[in-house]
Amino acid sequence: MVSSRGFLSWLIFLFIGILGFIPFPAEAAIKKYQFDIQVKNVSRLCHAKPIVTVNGRFPGPTIYVREGDRVMVNVTNYAQYNMSIHWHGLKQYRNGWADGPAYITQCPIQTGSSYTYDFNVTGQRGTLWWHAHILWLRATVYGAIVIMPKQGTPYPFPQPNMEVPILLGEWWNTDVEEVEKQGTEMGLPPNMSDAHTINGKPGPLFPCSEKHTFAMEIESGKTYLLRIINAALNDELFFGIAGHNMTVVEVDAVYTKPFTTQTILIAPGQTTNVLVLANQVPGRYFMATRAFLDVPLPVDNKTATAIMQYKGIPNTVLPSFPQLPASNDTEFALGYNRKLRSLNTPQFPANVPLKVDRNLFYTVGFGKDSCPTCVNGTRLLASLNNISFVMPQIGLLQAHYFNISGVFKTNFPDKPPTPFNYTGAPLTASLGTVHGTRLSKIAFNSTVELVLQDTNLLTVESHPFHLHGYNFFVVGTGIGNFDPAKDPAKYNLVDPVERNTVGVPTGGWTAIRFRADNPGVWFMHCHLELHTGWGLKTAFVVEEGPGSDQSILPPPKDLPPC
Ligand code: C2O
Repeated sequence: MVSSRGFLSWLIFLFIGILGFIPFPAEAAIKKYQFDIQVKNVSRLCHAKPIVTVNGRFPGPTIYVREGDRVMVNVTNYAQYNMSIHWHGLKQYRNGWADGPAYITQCPIQTGSSYTYDFNVTGQRGTLWWHAHILWLRATVYGAIVIMPKQGTPYPFPQPNMEVPILLGEWWNTDVEEVEKQGTEMGLPPNMSDAHTINGKPGPLFPCSEKHTFAMEIESGKTYLLRIINAALNDELFFGIAGHNMTVVEVDAVYTKPFTTQTILIAPGQTTNVLVLANQVPGRYFMATRAFLDVPLPVDNKTATAIMQYKGIPNTVLPSFPQLPASNDTEFALGYNRKLRSLNTPQFPANVPLKVDRNLFYTVGFGKDSCPTCVNGTRLLASLNNISFVMPQIGLLQAHYFNISGVFKTNFPDKPPTPFNYTGAPLTASLGTVHGTRLSKIAFNSTVELVLQDTNLLTVESHPFHLHGYNFFVVGTGIGNFDPAKDPAKYNLVDPVERNTVGVPTGGWTAIRFRADNPGVWFMHCHLELHTGWGLKTAFVVEEGPGSDQSILPPPKDLPPC
């Protein structure tokens, strides 16, 4: 029999238990943004032209959120182009509807229409970015996403005095959509950009730069967190600051083991957070960015600059210039990427899949289609496992969710049809590249290893691959052909860097691992817009799990129609 005294202490026990288990309501907020897609006249390098913008701003507004927040961005399209916006690096758990790539997870937002991207920011903190995900419109439609850690959770590095987004981009003097169209008509790479930019500005090495130079004031002894984003279309970039070291503390919104460097290397799609201590003789110092390309292909080799200026130093002082590696410095690139490691602490562990359920091996190649109207009678294309991806007419996620047949096939091969010496002598032979909307189906919660292998079909080249809906661990990389018998033994399964975009080195390979715990249709592509356009892309169909919280959420009511 339970005495009343016993019952009371049981009640108290229960109450304390409940207090212990139910955390005080997390102050998750709803952050709302309005994005008006507008055309605006902008001038750079003495050329004025209309560009597509968000809210008339270039670069677009920064989204500030806190881990755990819900974000609602209403996008209203006032431009003549169809639009879609991608939240690059946001995992969008079960919620591909808010991911944004046109014809993959949604049909585009047509002129005069609106769509609200509604998503939660869960288990991520750091720097990401958003950009248009249709045609080449991301050339001007992009901005930063800053995810602050949960209230009361400090950074795992010294608290900076100030934080500054640094967006690296490319600028064309002519209409970017025309540039792209001309390239497609000719069957050749379109004109390269006329300038690189830092926060939309090319800096004083370009004409008419007076108003078009980004400058930030710093104070001796203070620490600055630069949130660096490569928003360029086609160029991997070096970035450095004269006289100042940078300490890398995070990439792609994942903390890293800190290391100090004079130059960072950042591929399109990637982000890098660095700490900079203002510890030099007060003066003016250039920040500079320039392309990295280690094959003899045409590239925009012009250097964009911005200025770090100590407080009280007049504008007349000539800034000093940082030393950047040579534009084809492969050794620097490989060495830099080797230094990137996950922080891997109990609080921020690297949960690397140790056992692999599904092994994938994808070759990256170029090729040519015959094209009688093109300049050389051929049109350049790019492929994965000899398949050049064809964009569908309706969103793949809708087709998957509503079981609409005939939109895509799930027969993307796990390995290339015929093995060959991938990185040997240059190959021009056609390997029978086919066109198709072919995807790979992945079982829910299975662990996947994907080896991306560059080839010498027409030319070797490095390719920054981006996977939507996931982060992955970069467990290995090497030059030459991947050797399945020897290379896996050298993998880093302890603290490999975790990110959403990774470079496949020129004439080499990269192995990534992830757990397929996010059901939906997830795009994977080279983040060089040129190569994406040529077909260097595919998507994964990740199946649903049995649990009630393991299925794709129902589509929002305002999902744009095709
Ligand atoms: Cu940042 Cu699919 O792209």
